Amino acid sequence: MSIDSIDTTNQHTDAPTTLDLDRVEAFAGQVAGDIGTVFAGATVYIGHHAGLYTAMADGGALTPEEVADRAGAHPRYVREWLGAQAAGGYVEYEPASGAYRLPPEHAAVLADPMSPAYLAGASDGMAAIWAAAERVATDFTLGEGVPWHEHDPRLFSGTEELFRPSYQTFLTSEWIPSLEGVEDRLTAGARVADVGCGHGVSTVVMAGSFAASHFHGYDAHDASISTARRRAADAGVGDRTSFEVALATKLPDLGFDLVCFFDSLHDMGDPVGALVSAREALTSDGTVMLIEPFAGDGVEDNLTPVGRLYYAASTLVCTANGIAQGNRPVLGAQAGEAALRDVLAQAGFTRVRRSAETPFNLVLEARP
Ligand SMILES: C[S@@+](CC[C@H](N)C(=O)[O-])C[C@H]1O[C@@H](n2cnc3c(N)ncnc32)[C@H](O)[C@@H]1O
Repeated sequence: MSIDSIDTTNQHTDAPTTLDLDRVEAFAGQVAGDIGTVFAGATVYIGHHAGLYTAMADGGALTPEEVADRAGAHPRYVREWLGAQAAGGYVEYEPASGAYRLPPEHAAVLADPMSPAYLAGASDGMAAIWAAAERVATDFTLGEGVPWHEHDPRLFSGTEELFRPSYQTFLTSEWIPSLEGVEDRLTAGARVADVGCGHGVSTVVMAGSFAASHFHGYDAHDASISTARRRAADAGVGDRTSFEVALATKLPDLGFDLVCFFDSLHDMGDPVGALVSAREALTSDGTVMLIEPFAGDGVEDNLTPVGRLYYAASTLVCTANGIAQGNRPVLGAQAGEAALRDVLAQAGFTRVRRSAETPFNLVLEARP
């Protein structure tokens, strides 16, 4: 079936407008596909939480009943779920045997929490974003923000899981070595601040590699600070970490050798104030490491799948939090290096360089 005609008028001139119907159909197909992707996001969440991807992690060809049996799930649900996974290309379907298979490359993304490519845990974030949609829609009219702590708690675990693989893969092997002289200082024994530390993944990763240093995590969200303390104790680094509830604009002046912001500065309502506070809390030869979502300087540079993810998350979470905190200015998750350099300069940092990058992250080194 195809669309024969659509009558419309140009809203500005009232002139009849002829639509390119092929383009309409192609775009409707794209949006239908996107709606399918959004619906299927809930099946990723279920696959993660009901242990279905884990049940398929060995790559074997399995019937729905076998997957259900392994996961302890209801077979009729699993059959329908597998249809959604196969239609999305997440699993392979063999019509002859009626079996489904999770290829090992997909298992690395969906079923192995220690893989650098792991993304299934981030599905909590998808759920939290949807939970916020109604409130944010109202806030578009009111111009009000949504403070981080008022989100569905799955935002906090989803954020932890979205960023954890990158931090575990790159932080101590590439990002810290990319900074001038910092790795040696941390090896010898240094004092480090992790500002907006959330659940403390980055703090714990650093503490695991530099036993002579002390790592101070700060976050405005008290529940995240409690979780971070537990994560550090579980990882056996409780003795070289401490976590306190604190605003980024009011860091204690402990003479830090390194102050880090991991994907947090762009959420803050006063990024310049936070950077001034970081500069004042540094030793005279200290360094700020600013990790931010990867972005180019122009909107046109960020019209990519990664940019889409970040712009969407930023609309509902990062920008909403920044507006709630004062809006002076809100960077958002696709600020780009030029805007980051601008706030660093306003805060008194004179030496700034991009020291590393990944498809998801920019790493800037800043010194007073
Ligand atoms: C996107 S999360 C990143 C968390 C963590 N750094 C990570 O990478 O997993 C942003 C964090 O910044 C914290 N935050 C936002 N505004 C803050 C502020 N003004 N002062 C301190 N923390 C803040 C939030 O509570 C949240 O935990």
